[in-house]
Amino acid sequence: MTYETILVEQHDAVTLVRLNRPQALNALNSQVLADLIAAFAAYDADSTQRCLVLTGSEKAFAAGADIKEMQAMGFAGAFGDNFFAGWERVTATRKPWIAAVAGFALGGGCEVAMMADFILAADTAKFGQPEIKLGVAPGMGGSQRLTRAIGKAKAMEMCLTGRMMGAEEAERSGLVARIVPAAELMDEALKTAAAIAAMPPLAAIANKEMVNTAFETGLATGILFERRLFDGLFATEDKIEGMTAFVEKRAGNWVGR
Ligand code: CAA
Repeated sequence: MTYETILVEQHDAVTLVRLNRPQALNALNSQVLADLIAAFAAYDADSTQRCLVLTGSEKAFAAGADIKEMQAMGFAGAFGDNFFAGWERVTATRKPWIAAVAGFALGGGCEVAMMADFILAADTAKFGQPEIKLGVAPGMGGSQRLTRAIGKAKAMEMCLTGRMMGAEEAERSGLVARIVPAAELMDEALKTAAAIAAMPPLAAIANKEMVNTAFETGLATGILFERRLFDGLFATEDKIEGMTAFVEKRAGNWVGR
């Protein structure tokens, strides 16, 4: 598969996707979306691939949706064409994926990072939803995901002022899982992804679905969903292997069934 705006590599069972529009600080235009939809679908369909890392450059994960592409767009283009709805195909990815963020993650860049299962941030990362300064507002889930991640007070302040949040504040606020020195970001992201890739794959998807369900439902329904999925994992060969391997004091050999 060839892509125009991203670079894709496989590191054993880990797919690495790098946004590659350096001249525009990785601004997310329609071609980037098309490329990401194709790359994420290929990842989800490839049983040899078990975790994905999405990253940008040292200077920018992504500086937002492409303002030059949106400049001439009117309501009919945005609403009529359901502009941005395609990102739901990225969030529909079933298998785990991580955003490794260095530099600017602004507007749509922050929103795409928040679509990931979690964010690893370099100490240089800067997050923000500056859309208000352009006369608009977040359009790829930012008002919802940022509020769920860091709470109303901080999310409202970020959206209303457009200010950036550094890596330390982002970690303290619960937006990112961990901060690492910028020079170590890619090593750490690939190492973390490899650790996830080494897990039993059905259990990985189940864990992801359970945590995501916490954002979609009430507590009792969420706990019932968890228990039913937990029960379901008892029907897998990997459950028998996992518990047998523990008792026999050896590593598990996963078959993904
Ligand atoms: N769209 C299109 N082009 C962009 C861009 C964007 N979001 N962000 C940066 N670029 C381009 C610049 O136009 C510039 O191109 P030229 O050299 O052709 O002029 C190039 O990238 C480098 O950018 P700067 O010269 O501005 O770099 P800087 O280091 O001085 O500043 C920055 C960096 C603070 C991130 C600044 O580029 C900036 O403010 N970018 C826009 C951030 C923004 O508003 N993002 C939100 C976009 S709207 C959105 O995302 C909607 C949504 O909810 C999905």
